[in-house]
Amino acid sequence: MSVFGAFPRRRMRRMRSAEFSRRLQRETKLSVDQLILPVFVHGEPNLKESIPSMPGVERLGLNHLLRLMDKVSQHNIPAVALFPVIPMEQKSLDAKESYNPEGLIPKVIRELKKKFPDIGIITDVALDPYTVHGQDGLTNESGYVLNDETIAVLRRQALSHAEAGADIVAPSDMMDGRIAGIRSALDDHNYVNTRILSYAAKYASSFYGPFRDAVGSAKALGSSNKLNYQMDPANSNEALHEVALDIGEGADMVMVKPGLPYLDIVQRIKEKFQVPTLVYQVSGEYAMLKAASATGWIDEKSAVLETLLCMRRAGADAILTYYALQAAEWLNE
Ligand code: PBG
Repeated sequence: MSVFGAFPRRRMRRMRSAEFSRRLQRETKLSVDQLILPVFVHGEPNLKESIPSMPGVERLGLNHLLRLMDKVSQHNIPAVALFPVIPMEQKSLDAKESYNPEGLIPKVIRELKKKFPDIGIITDVALDPYTVHGQDGLTNESGYVLNDETIAVLRRQALSHAEAGADIVAPSDMMDGRIAGIRSALDDHNYVNTRILSYAAKYASSFYGPFRDAVGSAKALGSSNKLNYQMDPANSNEALHEVALDIGEGADMVMVKPGLPYLDIVQRIKEKFQVPTLVYQVSGEYAMLKAASATGWIDEKSAVLETLLCMRRAGADAILTYYALQAAEWLNE
């Protein structure tokens, strides 16, 4: 037989027969160091509003967000990602609220940095919360999302976040060339240490539905889609191409999104580029886990920790997950 010797000399179950030897051969570790909590921020400081499609996640005004940050800090979670809920009257065709230096996100960054200077602040750079049509960019008369015109706005948005003290700006819009545009805007204003986390391989996915409910872009988007800028779920080589471009343009980290159905992409990217590679366990994945747990069809704790561990095994250095706080509690038990 093989050089390893045949049964019964080789019994794979021997090492699995006790926890101590299972521990000794465990290849992948999941820790709090690898968790990032996405949060939905609302402009009304005392608001706390549940999101039906995301049980346990809420739109939070600043005062509630500060309380949540206490827990983030207690559990030693390295970073949070901010997503704004923008009222309809502040949405427009030119998305000008997106780069208002006194807008919601810059204000929240300043408050968080005052009280939690050591927690990393990641901001979403994209226009969808700010456009009346819910697309990630500016559009022409026929509704097509304009690339270069959008980048000009994204540069101002990223800059307004960096000025307010954001540690990491994270473009999630999938315009071509936006990493180069944002990097040069940051460099021109001496924000040389503002990191760029590129949503490099972001797929046009059905798993973003609950997120769009949360930020209120679902209604704006209506029956439109994002197929002409987000990636086709059928493609994998294209993801490597996207990542190569974004690293070349100055991204510090790249991300794959969604998570669980796309772990083959994570593995290929990590193997090929060896750069910090993040995964986003998106709202639809969260909703599925919540729904199946609520009915008792799966055990929430073990199922969630398993999904996160599997993302690590595929090559993810860190994971954005709405379960971050809960997972940290479980890991610290
Ligand atoms: C939009 C954005 C989306 C998500 C993060 N940023 C949705 C979209 O592209 O329509 C989805 C996150 C999630 O589903 O949890 N820039």
